[in-house]
Amino acid sequence: FTKIQEIELPAAFDAHVHLRDGEMSQLVTPTIRQGGVNQVYVMPNLVPPVTTVQQCLEYRDRLRAIEPNVDYLMSLYLHESVTPEVIREAKKAGITGVKSYPAGVTTNSSSGVISYEPFYPVFAEMEKQNMVLNLHGEVPSTPSHAHASTSKDQAITILNAEPAFLPTLKSLHEKFPTLRIILEHCSTAAALAAVRACGPAVAGTITAHHLSLVIDDWAGDPFCFCKPVAKTPEDRDALLQAVVRSEGRFFLGTDSAPHDQGKKRGEDKVAAGVFTQTNAVAYVLDALEKGVERGVIEEKEVSQEGLEGFLGRWGRKFYQVKDERGEKVVLRKGQAKVVEVLEKEGVSVKIVPFRRGETTWSVEW
Ligand code: NCD
Ligand code: DOR
Ligand code: ZN
Ligand code: ZN
Repeated sequence: FTKIQEIELPAAFDAHVHLRDGEMSQLVTPTIRQGGVNQVYVMPNLVPPVTTVQQCLEYRDRLRAIEPNVDYLMSLYLHESVTPEVIREAKKAGITGVKSYPAGVTTNSSSGVISYEPFYPVFAEMEKQNMVLNLHGEVPSTPSHAHASTSKDQAITILNAEPAFLPTLKSLHEKFPTLRIILEHCSTAAALAAVRACGPAVAGTITAHHLSLVIDDWAGDPFCFCKPVAKTPEDRDALLQAVVRSEGRFFLGTDSAPHDQGKKRGEDKVAAGVFTQTNAVAYVLDALEKGVERGVIEEKEVSQEGLEGFLGRWGRKFYQVKDERGEKVVLRKGQAKVVEVLEKEGVSVKIVPFRRGETTWSVEW
């Protein structure tokens, strides 16, 4: 694999994207195909969040108007207004799933979930309707003023927020064994093990950036800061191994999360999110190559079959969708450069992409 200069792949399925709305979506949506992707699962954390079928369909229309050559699978934001009735309506309207954000954990999650129990009737209906439940698998941090050394409960920080969530994944899967659940953006070895311990109704997505980043990379660099945060080198290497040893349980969901550069460098709290859409597939190939060089994965483990699976086939299979377009892309090593800043005439926001200015694989359609 590390000797290969050129590779042809079916256009990828990115099972987790933030395309935003308004100006930001004008800037971001046209870059999906640039990244080697022609089908995406779209996150609903707009302001306000997408909680009704009508909002969701109108949002899809706006995205289609910007870039018609992408297939958009849509989601609702789990919220008290999302009732079993809404689930039935959503299914009829062709909406694919529901994303659950724990309250306060990440961008635009203030209207997120506090306790999962009140939603059991919704999950039961989703199971019946064969919809997908997408979990942002972190528990909220303990406020630092509330850390008590005498407490027998471990304080939650962004480093253990994902492991602390895993019992919830297990219990949801036990209660709703045929409900298709995705643990989004797995960032720890523990998360991978928790997914594998479940039945085939449960899968995990892995981002491109978690395949290369570790804690030190985002400590001090806002453009590498996201939720869940990148963890230890051992976690990162477990993710690389999960890509090539996935057996269909893990597939690409980039969690590409654009923020205006001012939200990353301003005086306010740094917004969480790494932007990878423009070079999505290329970043994965680069990370795998580095993984081979470090001896974390073996050269022969990176196969055409495995790449096609992780980048498309396994995600599409889990989502029960076809790649109707049947397109291929050719990637060439070292033949593209990540832009310093993504900008567009008439659009006031600017995005600094992951690995800005670096060399990577080019994508030709
Ligand atoms: C989050 C919050 O609301 O606390 N930030 C945000 O919505 N931009 C926290 C975070 O994501 O760091
Ligand atoms: O880093 C993140 N950014 N994680 C999320 O879960 C949300 C996302 C965003 O919307 O910016
Ligand atoms: Zn998330
Ligand atoms: Zn996300």
